[in-house]
Amino acid sequence: MNEQDDTTFYITTPIYYVTAAPSIGNAYTTVAADMLARWHRQRGESTWFLTGTDEHGQKVLEAASEHGASPQEWTDKLVAEEWQPVLDVVDISNDDFIRTTEKRHTDRVREFWQTLYDNGHVYQGTYEGPYCVACEEFKLPAELLPDPAGDAAVKLCPIHERPVQQLSESNYFFRLSAFGDRLLELYDRRPDFVGPTSARNEVVAFVKQGLQDLSVTRSTFDWGIGVPWDESHVLYVWIDALLNYVTAAGYGTEPDRFERLWPAVHLVGKDIVRFHAVIWPAMLMAAEVEVPQQVFAHGWLQVGGQKMSKSKATAIHPSEIVDTFGSDAYRYYFLRTIAFGSDGSFSWEHLEAVYTSELANGLGNLASRVTAMVARYFDGTLPPAGALGAGEEGLVSALADTAATADAAVERLALNEAIGAVEGFVGVVNGYISEQQPWQVAKTENRDRLATILYVAAESLRAVAVLHAAVMPRTAAALWDSLGAEAGLGALADQRLAAVGEWGQLPAGSRLTKGASLFPRLAATEPGS
Ligand code: MSP
Repeated sequence: MNEQDDTTFYITTPIYYVTAAPSIGNAYTTVAADMLARWHRQRGESTWFLTGTDEHGQKVLEAASEHGASPQEWTDKLVAEEWQPVLDVVDISNDDFIRTTEKRHTDRVREFWQTLYDNGHVYQGTYEGPYCVACEEFKLPAELLPDPAGDAAVKLCPIHERPVQQLSESNYFFRLSAFGDRLLELYDRRPDFVGPTSARNEVVAFVKQGLQDLSVTRSTFDWGIGVPWDESHVLYVWIDALLNYVTAAGYGTEPDRFERLWPAVHLVGKDIVRFHAVIWPAMLMAAEVEVPQQVFAHGWLQVGGQKMSKSKATAIHPSEIVDTFGSDAYRYYFLRTIAFGSDGSFSWEHLEAVYTSELANGLGNLASRVTAMVARYFDGTLPPAGALGAGEEGLVSALADTAATADAAVERLALNEAIGAVEGFVGVVNGYISEQQPWQVAKTENRDRLATILYVAAESLRAVAVLHAAVMPRTAAALWDSLGAEAGLGALADQRLAAVGEWGQLPAGSRLTKGASLFPRLAATEPGS
């Protein structure tokens, strides 16, 4: 087991706007962060996983009024009925859930901005320019799209392809422009600060153009955290929301805890990388707080070649998939088939194909074959292995390689590669069984050989349970159970990734049972219907 030091692997998701129910796009980030949190716990590292909801701003206010509710009523209802329950739907192991309407957040945010104001980082001015409510972002005129109908007065947000508003507001500004050089120096000194490379390049180019000061207050509506030195303004939603990562970690109230947790790794969609890699570190620099450990931007889930989004009514709720395929297959599908950092498209046909080939016919079939044969030929008691031949030695080294490859891939946040390595190993074990044909060996007198083949297969499954626990926690637990592994090895959660590749851990004598199928055949109905 790793020595636990005073630092913690602290991983966050963006906090989500409470405008509607969650989509598989939002759940994608949360599931990825969950896999990372579980992986680090399985390494024996102290880990903290934060997610939550972003509840202020114009967009949430508009959603609430469209439904005839006050924003507080609206967010209370949606958080309780949708955003917290969805975490169970996709089996999320978060340690905390922050809402930006909580006092633990709002008090600290006011203190933070008061300090920046007192220290001369904020001044009063007027914002004249475009604003996209869907992004909650002040836009640069040069990045807008022309109106398809040719109206020169209308410009569209490039992400939402909806008209931007022209604002003219007396606001307070943060001197963001003063931080350009320090930010460029940060990206230079820490090349992994922003990932992947495409996101890093975008951020560096953006900062090199020269930064403009940022409007940090709004004065035309009041749904937000009041500006402490001028209560006729509320804080701009983004500079309130970004602070969730520190307010939830004890910033300003629990210095020891904050010291232990901070800095964090932030997973974000590529649409919000500038907020996290430019504005956020600049805010922290102004407050003399350490910048994040890393900002990693993943791609978009697309439908018909476009970003899936609630505003375009292309969003799918995670339950629509989980109800048919289960939460583990859901998690596996999105994390395994999309290169983490690139866009990916979702289709029911592809999901069904992956489920059938890799899960039902792959891992599910392997587990049921092995447990059934141990039951049939050895009354469910795992026999000891005899001498290992070339086939077995091949598996032993394939496992060691798989464990090393998967861990190194997770370290680079190549989650899909880590899962792919384990899937490849499952394929190798299935191939080994097909080649060795233990059902034929069972017809001979060679009990020793039969014992060796089945021990080797079961021991391989022991490692697969540990390696897949972060992505498919339920399946891994069911597999651990059906291998009878707990009696000899202890709880699945206590198995360390550093040792997973060491051969021969599952004790002979373990009691195997053929549990329910890990991935039941799909009913012949149309998925999603
Ligand atoms: N509230 C801000 C984030 C504040 S963080 C301090 C926000 N919220 S959001 O509800 O719009 O969620 C954005 C995040 O949801 C994206 O960054 C991404 O992580 C995830 N996704 C939403 N739609 C998505 C896709 N279609 N595809 C992949 N991820 C998507 O922005």
